[in-house]
Amino acid sequence: PQVCWLAPEQTAGKQKPYMYTQGQAVLNRSFFPCFDTPSVKFTYSATVKVPEGFTAVMSATSWEKQKDNTFVFKMSQPIPSYLVALVVGDIVSADVGPRSRVWAEPCLIEAAKKEYDGVIEEFLVVGEKLFGPYVWDRYDILFMPPSFPFGGMENPCLTFVTPCLLAGDRSLVDVIIHEISHSWFGNLVTNATWGEFWLNEGFTMYAQRRITTEVYGLPYTCLEAATGRALLRQHMDATGEDHPLNKLRVVIEPGGRGFLRGFCLFLGVNPDDTYNETPYEKGYCFVSYLAHLVGDQSKFDAFLQAYVNRFKFQSITADDTLAFFLEYFPELKEKGVDSIPGFEFDRWLNTPGWPPFLPDLSPGQQLMKPADELAELWAADGLNMEAIEAVDITGWRTYQLVYFLDQVLQKSPLPEGNVERLSKMYPKISKAQNAELRLRWCQIVLKNNLEAEYSKVKDFLHSQGKQKYTLPLYRAMWGGSETARALAMETFSATAPQLHVNVQNYVKKILGLE
Ligand code: BES
Ligand code: ZN
Repeated sequence: PQVCWLAPEQTAGKQKPYMYTQGQAVLNRSFFPCFDTPSVKFTYSATVKVPEGFTAVMSATSWEKQKDNTFVFKMSQPIPSYLVALVVGDIVSADVGPRSRVWAEPCLIEAAKKEYDGVIEEFLVVGEKLFGPYVWDRYDILFMPPSFPFGGMENPCLTFVTPCLLAGDRSLVDVIIHEISHSWFGNLVTNATWGEFWLNEGFTMYAQRRITTEVYGLPYTCLEAATGRALLRQHMDATGEDHPLNKLRVVIEPGGRGFLRGFCLFLGVNPDDTYNETPYEKGYCFVSYLAHLVGDQSKFDAFLQAYVNRFKFQSITADDTLAFFLEYFPELKEKGVDSIPGFEFDRWLNTPGWPPFLPDLSPGQQLMKPADELAELWAADGLNMEAIEAVDITGWRTYQLVYFLDQVLQKSPLPEGNVERLSKMYPKISKAQNAELRLRWCQIVLKNNLEAEYSKVKDFLHSQGKQKYTLPLYRAMWGGSETARALAMETFSATAPQLHVNVQNYVKKILGLE
C-alpha cells in the first residue's frame, strides 16, 4: 500500500507515469525493511535510478544527480521511518526563497512558484525565532498529483502538498505553516508511539497558530482556530463524544492473528484508522491550556524552545512532555496544576470527550461576528433580503467565508428555498474554485438535498482525492436520500482507481462495500 504507482491520466500533465510514497503512519514497512515505529530514528542514504525523462526527489538533506539518471540522496539527521519519502515523476523546480524551492509537474510550476514566491522564508524565520534553529537545511515544497490523500505531509526537507493549495491567492498557506511547524514538533521531537499522535499534531497546531499570530495577527489566527473548533465539533457529533478515539492517548492494541469459529481475524488497531480531529484540535486545546496555566506568552514560548532543545532527535511520550513541563515550571508543580479537579492532566489524556478548556478566540470576533449574523439571517424562515443585501461579503477572506459556511452547515437543513437563493446570491461561494470553500458548499448542498447542484459534489470528488474532503462527502451522501446514495455509488465506481488505497478502503467501509 505504501508505494503509489500512478498512470499518466492520474497526473496533472497526463503524459508520463508518476510514483510516490506515503509513509505515515505504518506504511513504510512495505517500502523498505525497517523498524517501522516512530520510536526508532536513523539516518539514511539511497541510490535511485530512474528512466530517462524522470526526476527523483527524497526527504533528504543532500542529493546529487550522477550519470545514467541515478540520484544519490543522504539524510544526515536521524529521523523515524515514517519520514522517509520518495517521488519519481516528470517534475521540475523553481526557487521561492533563499533555502526553498517548489517542485511540480511542468504544467503546474508557474502556478506553484506564483503561489509561494517570497513568502516561505518569513515562516521559517519566525519559526526559528520561536522554537529554535531549523536543522533540516532546506525547506522545499512538492506539489503532488490530485489523488494525494493529505493536505500536506511533513517529509523533512521536502513537504508534500495537495495541488488544491494552488488557490491563486495564498489563502491556504496555513497548511504550509503547519508542515513547517512539524520541523520542530514531530520531526525533531517525535511521538514515541502512534497512540500519542497528539504530541505531533497538537503541538504542531499550537506552533502553527503561534506563527500565524506573529505573521498575520491574532484576529485572523482566532478565526482560523474557530474553523478548527468547528471541525472538532462536527467530528465529535458524528462519532459521539465518548468514542474511545476522542481521547488524546489512544489505545492501539498490538496486531496479531486470532481465530474465532474457524475465521482468521486480524486483531489490533491500525494507527491509520485513528486519524481524526481529536489529536489536532483537542491536542491544540491541551497545549493552549498549558500556556494558560503559565499565563505569559513569552514564558510559554521559552518553554517550547527549551522542550525542543531537551528532546530533539528523540522520541517521547506525553509523560515525558508533562514531566518536563512541571520541572520547567516548579511553581506550577508545587501548586499541583496536574490535578486541578476537572482539568487533571490524566483526564486530558485518558478521558474521551469535549476539551475541558477552550482557548479564548474572542480576538477573532471582529471577523466572526459579521459571518455569524449573516448565517443567522440565511437560516430564518422568511428571508429578510434587505438585511441580507446590506451585508457586503466581497471583501471577506477565504477563512471568513469558510467560517460563515460552517455556521450555515450547522443550521442546515435551512427552510425550503433558502439555499437556492444563497447559491444565486453568492456565486463567489457556490462557484468557488477554492477547495476549502468547495468542500463546505458540497456539504451544504447534500445536507439541504439540493439535487440541482449534486454535479458539483461529483466534480469536486473527481478533481482530487484528499481524505479529509472525500470521507465527509461520502458520509453525507450515504446518510442522505436515495439519489444521494446513488450519486455516492456512481462517483465511487468512477473514481476509486484514482484514490489512495487507504482512502478507497475507508470509502468502501462507509458505503458498506466491505
Ligand atoms: N502528518 C500529517 C498528515 C498525516 C497524518 C499523514 C496521519 C498520515 C497519517 C500532516 O502534517 C497534517 O496534519 N496535514 C493536515 C494539514 C492541516 C492540519 C493544516 C492535512 O493534511 O489536512
Ligand atoms: Zn500535521
